Amino acid sequence: MLKVAISGSTGLVGSRIQELLYHDVVFIPLLRSKVDIADKESVSEFVGQNDFDIMLHLAGYTAVDQAEKEREECKKINVDGTRNLFDEVTKKKKKFIYISTDFVFDGKNSPYDESSQPNPIGWYAKTKYEGEKIIGNKGMIVRIAYPYRASYGPKKDLIKGIRSYLEEGKKIAMLTDTIITPTFIDDIAFSLKHLLVHFSNEVYHVVGSGSYSPYDIAQKIAEAFKLDKSLIGKTTYDEFYKNSKIRPRDLTIKSKKNNSWKMKSIDEGLEEIKRQVKLKLPQT
Ligand SMILES: NC(=O)c1ccc[n+]([C@@H]2O[C@H](COP(=O)([O-])OP(=O)(O)OC[C@H]3O[C@@H](n4cnc5c(N)ncnc54)[C@H](OP(=O)(O)O)[C@@H]3O)[C@@H](O)[C@H]2O)c1
Repeated sequence: MLKVAISGSTGLVGSRIQELLYHDVVFIPLLRSKVDIADKESVSEFVGQNDFDIMLHLAGYTAVDQAEKEREECKKINVDGTRNLFDEVTKKKKKFIYISTDFVFDGKNSPYDESSQPNPIGWYAKTKYEGEKIIGNKGMIVRIAYPYRASYGPKKDLIKGIRSYLEEGKKIAMLTDTIITPTFIDDIAFSLKHLLVHFSNEVYHVVGSGSYSPYDIAQKIAEAFKLDKSLIGKTTYDEFYKNSKIRPRDLTIKSKKNNSWKMKSIDEGLEEIKRQVKLKLPQT
């Protein structure tokens, strides 16, 4: 079986990948409690002591807004951490997959596919793009967008965040003039299963099959879970982000390459969440 070292395996995306692919792959987790990727020595030790075929690198500083205030910390993890891992893994002549983000695009020229030119606008996005440049064409870069899943305790994804507000009867103002591409994490895992086996030093977009405004997404969530739509108000990009325009406005993301797995639309993803929750299928 393929041996895959995985960083970020306790996170929103990584923990689900591990949960879904453990029959197909032997995972060797790089745990933050033991290895800080920003620390060259501990990375070198981890890579030296473990036998693996591919390093799947998901670990990162992911708090997009907070990153503007914690620039050094964000850079240390996303840029230095990625460089430390990549250097050691390539020295060992092993393969590298870097999980990146739709945020590398500026949102002014959508739709974006794998051949589009990144132009990140916020600090988090800039550090993720720096990470991409470290990998260059010597590894695989997989860009994902707005990942969501049925359930994950430590943090709320976008879908869960909206759902929680509505379930608690709280009003929310949702953007009507911004576009995002939500991606069901199970689909990311199954696409990666293919990409791990058919490895190639290329850029891939592994993203949901539809792009929507957050307002439309909130409407769909309310419909799917029979929640009160009247709680959903409207806002605009200029109104909502008046002081910090660090998030791209139109992230319509496509893939010209990912034909291995059918990615779900938000309607399909919400149906699958309902099914998993009803069946109480394994979740973390
Ligand atoms: N979530 C999104 O909306 C989104 C969108 C596009 C792309 N991505 C990318 O997808 C990847 C996974 O995101 P996620 O949302 O699953 O992340 P997450 O839930 O925030 O988890 C981050 C992971 O990185 C680990 N980590 C952080 N700093 C570390 C360090 N210094 N050394 C070792 N491990 C460290 C964390 O360990 P602990 O749990 O121990 O802290 C955790 O496992 C990231 O690279 C992110 O940039 C995410």
